[in-house]
Amino acid sequence: MKRVVYPGSFDPITLGHMNIIERASKIFDEVIVLIMKNVDKQGFFSYIEREKLLKKATMDLKNVKVDISTGLLIDYMNRHNIDTIVKGLRTVIDFQYEENMALVNRTIDPKIDTVFLLSDPEYIMVSASNVRELLSYNADITDFVPASIKEEIYNFMK
Ligand code: PNS
Repeated sequence: MKRVVYPGSFDPITLGHMNIIERASKIFDEVIVLIMKNVDKQGFFSYIEREKLLKKATMDLKNVKVDISTGLLIDYMNRHNIDTIVKGLRTVIDFQYEENMALVNRTIDPKIDTVFLLSDPEYIMVSASNVRELLSYNADITDFVPASIKEEIYNFMK
């Protein structure tokens, strides 16, 4: 059974993340969507709020699990005996950032591989930072987040 980790801030989950999660869930036996700390980003939603949103958005995908870890990704993977990371790529800018992270993770632990899925073109302009910015102006986020969690996101903003 091939289990993989899809790590990220997911602050909040977007349609772009869903695109990667749905496709990874068809390729692998189990996908663990792992909410993690990015030291370069200030959290907008709490980890618990992000977890609630992710669980709701992925509830129909039976081989997708959601978890939270505030430590090193490699430590989580070793604790759970998983050796493959999945990440999504929108543009070459993502590639530069993700290449560095994949190489750092592989330097720390050479048995860890990262595989990349290219975002479908309609999601290239979708990012969690766009969603956060739109929310801070009370703007509509319909085109950026899964329909099933839009209202919950607005509720968290109250
Ligand atoms: O969605 P993001 O913010 O691009 O995801 C980045 C994330 C959270 C996956 C990355 O910052 C991370 O792996 N954080 C956990 C700490 C870690 O293992 N860092 C070493 C990788 S360079």
